[in-house]
Amino acid sequence: MRHRTPLLLAGLFLVAAGAVGTFMVVSAEGPAAAPATVVPSAASLADPIEVDRPGVPIPLDWAEPIPMTVYLTPTCGCCSAWVEHIGQYGFEVALEYRVDITGVKQGYGVRPELSSCHTAVVNGYVFEGHVPGEDVRRFLAEAPPVRGLAVPGMPLGSPGMEMGGFVDPYEVLTFTTTGRTEVYSRYGSGE
Ligand code: CU
Ligand code: CU
Repeated sequence: MRHRTPLLLAGLFLVAAGAVGTFMVVSAEGPAAAPATVVPSAASLADPIEVDRPGVPIPLDWAEPIPMTVYLTPTCGCCSAWVEHIGQYGFEVALEYRVDITGVKQGYGVRPELSSCHTAVVNGYVFEGHVPGEDVRRFLAEAPPVRGLAVPGMPLGSPGMEMGGFVDPYEVLTFTTTGRTEVYSRYGSGE
């Protein structure tokens, strides 16, 4: 209880900031502008975003569980291992099993060259593949104007793909709807 109050206050501050942000957007662009939300409901998470825009930041000390939807195939073991990993980073995960996940990836703007096994959606952003939990949380706190993060393929040693201590060198990339990518972080020495 002792530690909860400051976090709650931080949460209330964020809600207030979000409300102010919404008001500013509406006054700048007219009543047609979509209102910003702090953490969308699981239902709205299913709506693909159409343009890359900055999201509402989720601070690193956010106290409530953060809704995440993960699209995965029923037969994928490493997907479940990643879901277990990401559950330790404050997410409340809803699993959406699909026999064919290609259409889901297309819908969320994940190009074939960025594709991995599972696709996660949080707060309007897309996280493709075995993205480490720290990167997901840092990215959500920064809320940059891109579509999301991707770890293309399935690098050995990434979260959910553990192989003893071995980590194949891999990059976490930001990506945009237009296909532009930038390195967000790097892991692994190949030893
Ligand atoms: Cu995988
Ligand atoms: Cu997977």
